[in-house]
Amino acid sequence: MLPITSRTSCEVRPARMEEPVRIGQCNSIRDFRLMARRRLPGPIFHYIDGAADDEVTYRRNTEAYERCDLVPNVLAGVESIDMSTTVMGQKLKMPLFCSPTALQRLFHHDGERAVAKAAEKFGTMFGVSSLGTVSVEEIGSAISTPKLFQLYFHKDRGLTGSMIERCIAANFDVLALTVDTITGGNRERDLRTGFTSPPRLTLKSLLSFAVHPRWAVNYFTHEKFALPQLKDYVKEGSNVSVSVGDYFSTMLDQSMNWKDAESVRKKWGKQFCLKGIMSVADAKRALDIGATAIMVSNHGGRQLDGSRSPFDQLAEIIDAVGDRIDVICDGGISRGTHVLKALSLGAKACSGGRFYLYALAAAGQVGVERALENLHNEIERDMKLMGCRSINELSRENLRFR
Ligand SMILES: Cc1cc2nc3c(=O)[nH]c(=O)nc-3n(C[C@H](O)[C@H](O)[C@H](O)COP(=O)(O)O)c2cc1C
Repeated sequence: MLPITSRTSCEVRPARMEEPVRIGQCNSIRDFRLMARRRLPGPIFHYIDGAADDEVTYRRNTEAYERCDLVPNVLAGVESIDMSTTVMGQKLKMPLFCSPTALQRLFHHDGERAVAKAAEKFGTMFGVSSLGTVSVEEIGSAISTPKLFQLYFHKDRGLTGSMIERCIAANFDVLALTVDTITGGNRERDLRTGFTSPPRLTLKSLLSFAVHPRWAVNYFTHEKFALPQLKDYVKEGSNVSVSVGDYFSTMLDQSMNWKDAESVRKKWGKQFCLKGIMSVADAKRALDIGATAIMVSNHGGRQLDGSRSPFDQLAEIIDAVGDRIDVICDGGISRGTHVLKALSLGAKACSGGRFYLYALAAAGQVGVERALENLHNEIERDMKLMGCRSINELSRENLRFR
């Protein structure tokens, strides 16, 4: 029975749990987040944790799953579970993959190397950002599991083209063009903390490093911070401290349109995904230009606050195009049951950023492995409890909306 802390008989809440002090005590995303908060200088933690404006969409991305209930079946003989999925032509051992995220060596000195290795261990896909801190060549040769490269469409067409060519040479499997960052979101936590990449050395930031000595020693004694996908083209973001919002607003091409997306797809020539599709009309246009997948995503609530959550928007998109294009539900995932709900609606896979970034900040590769292991175990356990042996057996019959 849960310990009761409230005074009234109708309010029953668990007692305040202890914060985890070791990675082995992290059982949920909440635990990793608490550890990341302790380990990282404030501006860096808030860069991961924060979102746009009032962060309404950010909260909704997870809350949306709570408005939907699972209806299990029983006596289904669930001793062995197959949670593998094929998405964008890639066979994944689990139906959740690591979305591309920027600046990972700021969060832990191993950065993308740690996440890539952990993803490989769990047989899932790893996304590398245009603003990644380890080169596509290194990731390409380091891991054998599917690799996705996330492309930002820069004003400098030479840079955009060179990133595509480098990914082809490095044998990446999927290119995802991000379409929801046409201008920088209003990330007020970053404005308040003065977060820049690389971190600007001010009295305030030095103080914040001083109270996080382990992070500071690791950051300053390892390989110098760099953005190797931008090498030879951009000094901003690599040598000069800028905010990510300013980077989007000044470096990315705001004239980007469907023809540009189609020309990127043609130049790439393999599995092509649009990341940040939210409307049925755009999902249909994605099909028209030959995309093989869309990530239904609002960038983790970091761009347009007040936009709908991917899970809420999923059914209408799947009904319109789900039989002709792979639909991925991105963002807000913090539990195995969230994955099951999105798959039940018809998503081919789910993806997320913060679920592994907090773990990366907490303990590098070991942390990301633990986060993936927890979610793998949750998905397996939840499938058993739902009476589903493979993800094909999940369907809308299993769901009720409040
Ligand atoms: C710290 C951070 C950095 C991110 N960087 C990028 C990026 O460089 N490119 C991109 O397309 N999306 C980026 N994203 C968005 C993620 O790919 C993903 O859409 C989002 O994290 C999903 O929401 P979740 O964090 O709730 O799972 C970033 C997200 C976070 C939290």
